[in-house]
Amino acid sequence: MNTKPLRAVLTLLLVAGFGCGPDAPETSDPVPAPGSILIAHRGASAYAPEHSREAYELGIEQGADFIEPDLQITRDGVLIALHDLTLERTTNVREVFPDRFRATEVRGELVDVWVANDFTLEEIQQLDAGSWFGVEFAGTPILTLAEVIDLVRGRAGLFIETKAPEVYGDRGFDMEALLLEELARHGLDQPGVDPETPIVIQSFSAASLRLLHDEHGTALPLALLIGGGEASREWLTPEGLSEVATFATGIGPTKSLLLDIPGVIDLAHEHGLTVVPWTFRGDDPGDWDTVDAEMAHYLYELGVDGIITNNPDLFPTRPPPGGP
Ligand code: G3P
Ligand code: CA
Repeated sequence: MNTKPLRAVLTLLLVAGFGCGPDAPETSDPVPAPGSILIAHRGASAYAPEHSREAYELGIEQGADFIEPDLQITRDGVLIALHDLTLERTTNVREVFPDRFRATEVRGELVDVWVANDFTLEEIQQLDAGSWFGVEFAGTPILTLAEVIDLVRGRAGLFIETKAPEVYGDRGFDMEALLLEELARHGLDQPGVDPETPIVIQSFSAASLRLLHDEHGTALPLALLIGGGEASREWLTPEGLSEVATFATGIGPTKSLLLDIPGVIDLAHEHGLTVVPWTFRGDDPGDWDTVDAEMAHYLYELGVDGIITNNPDLFPTRPPPGGP
């Protein structure tokens, strides 16, 4: 059964900030509710190079409600879909621009890195961002956010992550303003304007989300990403969640936190916050035999509102109550 129409309804609930808790709708068909939102992490990145056109297309084909682009900024101020601050992991920048590296200290060692923000869009578009993943993807380009929006629009939503906004702030760029401007150019800067293409903005940076909420006054749903460090656990206390609720509509914790801190999902829901953990990977299902079993546990036993996964095709539907 194609559960996407039902999930589309639930997506609207999620982006409205109340698709959570025990009162979520029920149906007699195989249901993905209450936790049901499927987000393709960097596209269907288990099967195609992350953030490539192919990965995004595949994510949509595999039924994702949202595609998840990470944002970086080129030297000439264009938002691009790229996870790392640097280009060498996922492109052939070493060959194309052999002299354009910086020697940078990483964990006590000097290494050569090619910083994305040192390159113009025209230069970045010369790079092959596919061969590192497989020869069949040779020539895959890095996409701009504008290209990603055009690609996804009308077929899925976008769960957009502002990556390292402070780093870009130090370099004179305003990532939040650039993002909202790009969304406005596409008529997507208000919630609900295109029900087929809902927008959620997420960030590890509370400062970035506060800027979006307080300074820019965006009404778009905002989710605070929470990593595994001790300090970030402070966000998952009653006081921390109360604070998050002043500038965001949801949290995105690394999945292990939800096992480590009993009751935190209910607590977040009580604060009106949605809970969407990451990252579920077919090649690393943790304590489960398969990643679909792992995702099913989080969705249907713990009650999260959505899942961020590299393997959208393995997203589990729940059998109907009393049914097969
Ligand atoms: O959406 C959350 C997840 O994408 C955060 O981790 O490092 O893959 O961007 P990362
Ligand atoms: Ca991300």
